[in-house]
Amino acid sequence: MNSTSTPSSPGSPNRTNSAIGSTTDTTTGTTTVITNIGSLVTNDPSLGDESPLGLILDAAVVIEGDRVVWTGENSKAPATDNRVDAGGRAVLPGFVDSHSHLVFAGDRTQEFNARMSGRSYTAGGIRTTVAATRAATDAELEANLTRYLREALRQGTTTFETKSGYGLTVEDEARALRIAAAHTDEVTYLGAHIVSPDYADDPAAYVALVTGEMLDACVPYARWVDVFCEKGAFDGDQARAILTAGKAKGLHPRIHANQLSYGPGVQLAVELDAASADHCTHLTDADVDALANSRTVATLLPGAEFSTRAQWPDARRLLDAGVTVALSTDCNPGSSFTSSVPFCIALAVRDMGMTPDEAAWSATAGGAQALRRDDIGRIAPGAYADLTLLDAPSHVHLAYRPGVPLVSGVWRRGVPMIL
Ligand code: NIG
Ligand code: FE
Repeated sequence: MNSTSTPSSPGSPNRTNSAIGSTTDTTTGTTTVITNIGSLVTNDPSLGDESPLGLILDAAVVIEGDRVVWTGENSKAPATDNRVDAGGRAVLPGFVDSHSHLVFAGDRTQEFNARMSGRSYTAGGIRTTVAATRAATDAELEANLTRYLREALRQGTTTFETKSGYGLTVEDEARALRIAAAHTDEVTYLGAHIVSPDYADDPAAYVALVTGEMLDACVPYARWVDVFCEKGAFDGDQARAILTAGKAKGLHPRIHANQLSYGPGVQLAVELDAASADHCTHLTDADVDALANSRTVATLLPGAEFSTRAQWPDARRLLDAGVTVALSTDCNPGSSFTSSVPFCIALAVRDMGMTPDEAAWSATAGGAQALRRDDIGRIAPGAYADLTLLDAPSHVHLAYRPGVPLVSGVWRRGVPMIL
């Protein structure tokens, strides 16, 4: 072992941070052990205590290049080139934030203030952000995006998905996705966020644009296609047409479903084998059954209910039915202006019936499943070395100590990030 880092500073001064979620080059061949981990969440039951978290107490992790190559008990760790002492603290996989809307300009402070003074949220404010986003330069949008990525990284997020949806013209949607694609591989085309104000009198023509020229312009930058299936946005038939058109061009579907009211979104998600149905706040028993009998993940976004004073999604009901649940921020300037996965974990535990273990799993492995990824969201040989070190003895503190900045170290693709 050639060098030992102090536990509070895994960052290396001669490295610069790279984008969260995009592929980076890391030096292969050099091995580093993170030793003296008090409590390690692997999300691989076979590596740990057979629970879904695959917990190992008094653990170590060995990284080589951008990958994890060994995970186990501290006393059995193999010799390595470098050593980082975790000082008995907790390590878990970097958070996988599988739902955000980060390409935007402006904010909606007044709308939030009004809502907290008694007005209800109707999603109409999206138009405010559309106007600000269209007026912004590429550089302004990119600077804004980067700012929120830094925030997220400091709170332990190592992979994020993000969407278009505040441009709603061919050019503005494509440029949002181009900007996003420079920072993450998980890019989602959401031309169908709302009907563009330019097409207020002819929604069918807007759906034709979203499924035609706009889709063609956006496909090169995106992996996913999304639609806001809701009263006042797109109905079930329109949503099916949009997602089916995206699928035909090679994009995979995910859906904003059943957020503000009961509706067809969840059933449509299952019908189209969407990776995820997001929000899932208003569900019938048939919706829950459909999710339980599918591989579509229910992604819960408690920041939205918090920031709109809305009814919480019932995570307990979904989990008890056997549905796979992910937790994400939905970070956007209107309904959920938080980039903090730990905050969402605390809300989910306090108000949505999740245990601290379930919430930690949903924010890591759950997010990975919502992105149909098995190379992230777990700390096991072969996975990317995306790790979060907490200034706490276990992951339970994420909910037990709400609002406290517990993240004290992050490795992304094996690189210690400067927080
Ligand atoms: O996920 N539901 C639709 N879209 C966002 C809200 C976007 C906004 O209000 O600007 C959401 O909550
Ligand atoms: Fe959203």
